[in-house]
Amino acid sequence: MPRTERIVVGISGASGVVIGLRTVEELLAAGREVHVIVTDAAREVIRHEMGKSYRFPKGAKVHSEGDSASPLNSTSFLVDAMVVAPCSVKSLSALASGYANNLLTRAADGMLRTGKKLVVVPRETPLSLAALSNMAQLKLGGAIIMPPCAAYYHGPKTVADMTDFFVAKILDLLGVEHRLMRRWGER
Ligand SMILES: Cc1cc2nc3c(=O)[nH]c(=O)nc-3n(C[C@H](O)[C@H](O)[C@H](O)COP(=O)(O)O)c2cc1C
Repeated sequence: MPRTERIVVGISGASGVVIGLRTVEELLAAGREVHVIVTDAAREVIRHEMGKSYRFPKGAKVHSEGDSASPLNSTSFLVDAMVVAPCSVKSLSALASGYANNLLTRAADGMLRTGKKLVVVPRETPLSLAALSNMAQLKLGGAIIMPPCAAYYHGPKTVADMTDFFVAKILDLLGVEHRLMRRWGER
């Protein structure tokens, strides 16, 4: 029997943690096994942007960055795809250089080492030469770079609409079906 698709969502300490968290909700709704890696800085940003009482979606398997016993530390634990959303410039730098210093960067490095899908959603503006070079390096290493760039053609009315546009793009890249936005050419 084929196993359920297993997807890892890494959430680092950049602004826009809601993008990763909404992605987790949609992946769970689509029946995927979802592992979430939350860095220490991300926990701080979650408190700030989602509120102190925020709880991770039921069903998500949540791992901390220092969880060295996590199965996600080993590529023998089969993962189908991973997304880092949002990705801070610090984690971006670690990913680009292979500095696998915590569970998030280690798991992402495993995706690159084994040629599996890694979607990186860097959140910073404007961008330094270092960040741009790190993105280019990661792209060369096989990652997909998807900055959360807003669009207007789908008629967003709220911040939630804008967020769901980014989540829709991530789900498209992961090959996960959704109805989060009206596509160009659809009525
Ligand atoms: C509220 C808040 C928002 C932040 N937003 C960003 C951001 O958008 N991009 C970024 O690169 N860092 C941002 N930072 C700084 C990172 O959290 C910091 O560089 C941290 O060391 C990143 O660690 P991590 O990549 O291991 O999560 C923010 C910090 C806070 C407290």
